[in-house]
Formats: sequence, C-alpha cells, structure tokens
Amino acid sequence: MTILLTGISSGIGAAVAELCLEKQYKLIGVSRRELKLPSSVKLLKADLSIEEELREVFEQCGPIDALINCAGIAYMSPVCSGDSQQWEEMWRVNVHALALSCQLAIPLLSHGGSILNVSSMSGWRVPPSGGFYSPTKFAVRAITEALRSELRAARSTIRVGSISPGFVDTPLLDHYFKGRETQLADQRKTMKMLTPTDIAQSCLHMLETPSHVEIEDIQLRSTDQSV
Ligand SMILES: NC(=O)c1ccc[n+]([C@@H]2O[C@H](COP(=O)([O-])OP(=O)(O)OC[C@H]3O[C@@H](n4cnc5c(N)ncnc54)[C@H](OP(=O)(O)O)[C@@H]3O)[C@@H](O)[C@H]2O)c1
Repeated sequence: MTILLTGISSGIGAAVAELCLEKQYKLIGVSRRELKLPSSVKLLKADLSIEEELREVFEQCGPIDALINCAGIAYMSPVCSGDSQQWEEMWRVNVHALALSCQLAIPLLSHGGSILNVSSMSGWRVPPSGGFYSPTKFAVRAITEALRSELRAARSTIRVGSISPGFVDTPLLDHYFKGRETQLADQRKTMKMLTPTDIAQSCLHMLETPSHVEIEDIQLRSTDQSV
C-alpha cells in the first residue's frame, strides 16, 4: 500500500508513519519541517496553507492507495475575542487544504483506495473552549460527508472516512493551551490522555478493511475525558 500522509513530522502523523513503516507500507510524507526519515520515505516539503505548494505535492507524488489528511493546527481562539488571523490560519490548513487535497487525490487513488480525514471530537460537539477550532472540525465532517455522496453518485470505488479523537497528548496541545500552561500541566497530571499511537492504530484499521467496507468515522476518547 502506498500512503500519502500530511502532518508526518509530529504527533499523530509521526505515529501513523511509524506504524506504516513497521508494516512496510510505502510512505510519502508532507511537512514544512526538514525531517530525518528512513530512505524509503519520500518527503515532500510544503506549506499546505499555500495553494501552489499544495498543488505541487500532488503533481509530484504519483499513484497512491490512500491519502491521510492529518496536518492541522489548533489555537484556543474564542468567537467573542479571538484573533481573526488565527481563524484564517486554522481555516486554511484544517479546512481549505484538506478539501483541496481530497479533490487532487481522487485521480491518483487506486481502485478501492481510501481518503482518511483526521477530524476531532470537536467536530461533533463544541466544548466551552472550542472557539473557532471547533467550526473547522465540523467543516471536516461536512466535507467528508459531501465527498462520500459525490463519490457514490459517481460510482467511484474510493472510500472516505474520518477519525475523531478527544485529547491526544501531542505538541498541538502546547499551542492550544498557550498562556494556560498550568491548566495543561494539571490536565496531563490528572488525565491519562490518548496517545498518538492509539489514533494511528485506528487509522490503519480503517485503511486495512476489505475494499467494500467504508468506515464513516471512529470517535475515540480517553476514559478519563468526560465530554
Ligand atoms: N492532539 C489532539 O488532542 C487532537 C485531538 C483531535 C484531533 N486532532 C487533530 O489531529 C491532527 C494532528 O494533530 P497533532 O495533535 O498530531 O498535532 P501536531 O503534533 O502539532 O502536528 C501537526 C502536524 O500538522 C502539520 N502542519 C501544520 N500546519 C501545516 C502547514 N501549514 N503545512 C503543512 N503541514 C502543516 C505539522 O507539520 P510541520 O509543522 O512540520 O509543517 C505537523 O506535522 C490535526 O488535524 C488535529 O486537529 C488532534
């Protein structure tokens, strides 16, 4: 299986990459950062918020069996008082880049291939601190559903699904809790959060089902997370 994976450089994406390599899947990764990766991994450097760079990724990557849209950013940016630049940044990466990547992947995907969008529990309910991040993940759910209807109407064999984790202990939380480091430290002490590997295992499960099986979404929360 050849997988194109955005967000390979950190957190959930890095854990997905590790599992893919264990299973000897071919991997094409996308990130802005330079990375030390095994020589079998093709790394395409791109800032996905810049449309030309995103388009170049798909021009360079060749045929694939799966696209995993894992790149994402999170600011705690309230609707009442948040910085609209942060809203725009989140919208560009979490929504616009994800949707365009789905579109550009379609001609490259094999029969029975998969598109997997990394969403969030914040795409199912709006937590009190969800601010503008949550709407970006509601949009991921809607894009995934729109894409599924369009693919079925076109009698395409491409499958599409999403995965919706609660808190996962990754560097994204350090961004999200910026200015509230004590709150995050308390949370890390009192809650056993999901690990990136927990999410990666479910991602791989979704890709490895028989080609007639389409999993719509997997929602995961730590047993310590109540909402
Ligand atoms: N952690 C959580 O609690 C949690 C919960 C639910 C859902 N999620 C979702 O899971 C996904 C992965 O998050 P994570 O927790 O693994 O975060 P992370 O550790 O901060 O990783 C984010 C990844 O996104 C990439 N990225 C961000 N902006 C980019 C851009 N403009 N262009 C290209 N790549 C970009 C980063 O790569 P570079 O910086 O190298 O470019 C990095 O690889 C996100 O979609 C997030 O919303 C996370």
